Amino acid sequence: MEGCHRVPFGDLAALEKALAPRRAAGFVVEPIQGERGVVVPPEGYLRKAQELCLRAGTLFILDEVQTGLGRTGAMFSYQAEECAADILILAKSLGGSIAPIGATLTTRKIHHRAYGAMDRFDLHGTTFSGNAFSCVAALETLRILADENLAANSAARGKQLLEGLRSRLAGHPLVREVRGRGLFVGIELGATDSGWMNRHARPLVKKISKSVFGQWAALKMLEKGIICQPASHNWNVLRLEPPLTVKEAEVHQVVDSVAEVLGEYQGVAPLLKDVTGRLGKQFAKGWAF
Ligand SMILES: Cc1ncc(COP(=O)(O)O)c(C=O)c1O
Repeated sequence: MEGCHRVPFGDLAALEKALAPRRAAGFVVEPIQGERGVVVPPEGYLRKAQELCLRAGTLFILDEVQTGLGRTGAMFSYQAEECAADILILAKSLGGSIAPIGATLTTRKIHHRAYGAMDRFDLHGTTFSGNAFSCVAALETLRILADENLAANSAARGKQLLEGLRSRLAGHPLVREVRGRGLFVGIELGATDSGWMNRHARPLVKKISKSVFGQWAALKMLEKGIICQPASHNWNVLRLEPPLTVKEAEVHQVVDSVAEVLGEYQGVAPLLKDVTGRLGKQFAKGWAF
């Protein structure tokens, strides 16, 4: 988009440089990147980024569309760093999975500057803005989140999930990292330093992991009754985002299932064998499902 510039995530020096000309109206950032593969920034990143924005006269804009509303073990992900946004963006879970709704939260002062004049007051009007059904669903979602203390459940079950996965997948030759916060967890698949193929055919292992491993693992999980997805910008990261209501026994089941699925693929050879075998069967059926 014209007038927008990318800044590498988690890189404060790059942000400082980008803000130096004091020309940036806003800096938009996810507290933890979702589609890129549950990328958690270095500790203190958000707080310092906010300070840099404040100094440069740039609005600090947090996109909590994925991380907000309990997903990372607190109502909002920024709370982990004790910082605050000038503008906070919410959507997705705000509608309680049944209604489409997004919200932009800001201060009265900023809202007034953006929309507080006769020629600008309806700049972002749409047919469905303020949709009554969606607003009721959002209010009920917020009520349930608070009444059932779901952020706390996300923190507790998320810890169980992260620890369980880290312990069961430790030393796996194709698991590079298990990371995340609360019930926002990613398993990065790819070449580690152990195993002959990983050491001697690293680019090939990397390519196979990116192109098929995440999707294949998600398919195998689906066959066990568990829905998960690879990250859309990094297919080698398998994302696990259980419902915030998930129970302890269900987290055990997820950890067991992931360990079973990934346990079958200690190297790329069995993975390629299974994937090509399945593709062969599909081909024979004329690609019918
Ligand atoms: C971080 C983030 N922000 C914004 C959006 C857009 O959300 P919506 O489709 O609800 O507008 C997405 C969608 O995936 C997202 O992941």
